[in-house]
Amino acid sequence: MAYETIIVETRDHVGLIRLNRPEALNALNAQLVEELGEALARFDADDAIGAIVLTGSEKAFAAGADIKEMQGKSFVEAFREDFITRNWEAAARTRKPVIAAVAGYALGGGCELAMMCDFILCADNAKFGQPEINLGVMPGAGGTQRLTRFVGKSKAMEMNLTGRFMDAAEAERSGLVSRVVPADSLVDEALATAAKIAEKSLLAVMATKEAVNRAYETTLSEGVRFERRMFHALFATEDQKEGMEAFIDKRQPQFKDR
Ligand code: CAA
Repeated sequence: MAYETIIVETRDHVGLIRLNRPEALNALNAQLVEELGEALARFDADDAIGAIVLTGSEKAFAAGADIKEMQGKSFVEAFREDFITRNWEAAARTRKPVIAAVAGYALGGGCELAMMCDFILCADNAKFGQPEINLGVMPGAGGTQRLTRFVGKSKAMEMNLTGRFMDAAEAERSGLVSRVVPADSLVDEALATAAKIAEKSLLAVMATKEAVNRAYETTLSEGVRFERRMFHALFATEDQKEGMEAFIDKRQPQFKDR
């Protein structure tokens, strides 16, 4: 598949997607969103892939939705095509883990896209923000909701209302990112983390991801019940037998994703 706005590679069992519109700081236009959705779906369906890394350039993960493309939209167009949400949720729909590796700007839709991934590793030059308020609008792909869940009401409200950017240190302190690494080792670090995940049983990985995400959608008691049922279900897999047998035999497990 030939893409024009993203670069797609595989590294062993890891899928790597680079957003690639350098002329627009990786602004997310319709073509990019379409191509990204397609690439994520392909990796999700590929038995050889265990985890996915999504990254941009050193200067920008993505500077938001493409303002030049959306400037002329009418309410009727935006509403009828369900602008933003319909295609944009691909990263959140992916069942295999997706790691966002963020260097430089992750603004507006770029920040929202990173938050749709399962966790964010960022470079020390990363800047996160929801500056839509400066354009006379507001976030449209989860910025008021996911950012609030990540960093709490006070910071999310301030960032959404003022458009202030958060640097990497503040993002780590606030729980928006899992780790900060030097910019020049960001992609290697993300690939190594993804490779570590890809070594595990894919069934256990997917069930774990689903259970963690359930924490955001339900009550504690229902979430814990869901977790326990998924835990029980994993005893039906060959990988559970292999994983526990390997521990007892003091050897590395050979998971078959069955
Ligand atoms: N859309 C379209 N083009 C963009 C863009 C965007 N979101 N962000 C940057 N660009 C373009 C610029 O127009 C510029 O193109 P030209 O050279 O053709 O003029 C090029 O990328 C480089 O940008 P700058 O010259 O502005 O670079 P800078 O280093 O001076 O500033 C920046 C960097 C602070 C990120 C600045 O570009 C900026 O503020 N960008 C817009 C950020 C923004 O408002 N994002 C939210 C968009 S709305 C949204 O995302 C809605 C939603 O919730 C989904």
